[in-house]
Amino acid sequence: MAEIVIVKDTAEAGELAADAILALVARRADAVLGLATGSTPLGVWRALAGRRADLSRARGFALDEYVGLPDGHPESYRAVITREVVEPLGLDESLVAVPGHLGPIETAGEDYELAIRAAGGVDLQVLGIGTDGHIGFNEPGSSFESLTRVKTLTQQTRRDNARFFASVDEVPVNCITQGLGTIRRARHLVLLAFGEGKAAAIAAAVEGPVTASAPGSAIQLHSHVTVIVDEAAASGLANVDYYRYAWANKPEWEGL
Ligand code: F6R
Repeated sequence: MAEIVIVKDTAEAGELAADAILALVARRADAVLGLATGSTPLGVWRALAGRRADLSRARGFALDEYVGLPDGHPESYRAVITREVVEPLGLDESLVAVPGHLGPIETAGEDYELAIRAAGGVDLQVLGIGTDGHIGFNEPGSSFESLTRVKTLTQQTRRDNARFFASVDEVPVNCITQGLGTIRRARHLVLLAFGEGKAAAIAAAVEGPVTASAPGSAIQLHSHVTVIVDEAAASGLANVDYYRYAWANKPEWEGL
């Protein structure tokens, strides 16, 4: 079962996730991080930047990317990762890959899988979750075995992401995303969610049936998952008392 940690705000969540990332990098300076974009992980990057750790040898793989934006578009995930993660954290940009940027789009999925495998796999994958339950850009119906590939965003995801563009019409229809199978191969999943809008998706991911209709429920098939949520995102969970009790009684040596 995933470990569920209920925090007071995004800053506390960021510090916790930063602890896990820094413990990993202290063990192996060239650890492989799985990087989510969007609003959710911003507190993690802020916390990490504040610790001033040397992350220059860490390697990174972004979860996903839009397909069809012009090169250098400020909302392309390549640009977002550079601006929000690589620069503030002092990562080496040449060690951070974003799907769709390694070669032609026709083979981009395969190329990305090969690159992840060549790096030895992802050690810690940071995840957000969409209001429709997607992780990465694996929309409802995605196979639990899926690997990196080009997909079509739901209208709900395009509307949710319209806040980063001038209008919803500018949000690309296609994307390339690590698959649920790719994400499940990462050694540690750290899923964050904040706000009431994520409550249903979190409840489905953590306590609902394991079903392709709720892509986040793929986390139930993984042996090392940490879910960090605020009270609002936790509000749909039935076993919340147990999660608080388990967290309060967690042996200190365990870490995340
Ligand atoms: C982003 C990603 C998506 C987002 C999700 C939530 O790389 O993979 O799954 O994590 O859409 O987005 P925010 O955090 O903006 O609410």
